[in-house]
Amino acid sequence: MAGLFLSFEGIDGSGKSTQARRLADVLRKAGHPVTLTREPGGSPGAEEIRRLVLEGATDRWSAETEILLFTAARRDHLEKTIRPALARGEIVITDRFADSTRIFQGITRGDLSAVVDQLHSLMIGVEPDLTLLFDLDPEVGLSRANARAGVELRFEDMGLAFQTKARAGFLALAARHPRFRVIDADGDADTVAARAWDMVVPHLPKV
Ligand code: TMP
Repeated sequence: MAGLFLSFEGIDGSGKSTQARRLADVLRKAGHPVTLTREPGGSPGAEEIRRLVLEGATDRWSAETEILLFTAARRDHLEKTIRPALARGEIVITDRFADSTRIFQGITRGDLSAVVDQLHSLMIGVEPDLTLLFDLDPEVGLSRANARAGVELRFEDMGLAFQTKARAGFLALAARHPRFRVIDADGDADTVAARAWDMVVPHLPKV
């Protein structure tokens, strides 16, 4: 695929959504065409699935059912938003992608990694060019995430042990794949944005 495909990952409350918006703004000001998008969601159909998976009781879906729902949403996002933007030569920044399924569904509630990987290769089959992992103490992340009023708290409600497991899982995944850059997400937004910028600059196309 042409273009540049960036994903932002991290536990809940890691600040990655703020950082994704900031990077998109800076890149646009520098003259790059950017599509800023998110998961679950990023296309009208996938946004409908978002409501199903992020709202309601924690036991609403099993981890297995979640794998199917998140992958269905991702497939639609890929077809309708990501692939067309990359084909136009744009920089795509997605706030979460397949690594979130590898972690939140693949390892937090038993070992479903093989199922996640099989479904990924069957239905998605692409990885970002670069993945920024915003790493933060889960206690700090969870208190930030819970401070946001809203209804999308199904995963936050799974608690500190869940987020702690997710953080360790993300770091282990990052150690295995060279496309990852781990960013210390502790600090004010300007400081973290500067860290993220340093990681992205070497990958930017000329404008
Ligand atoms: P967000 O808070 O970054 O918008 O993410 C929404 C929640 O969805 C977050 O708690 C993590 C969860 N999630 C998964 O469990 N699996 C996935 O594949 C994705 C994309 C998100």
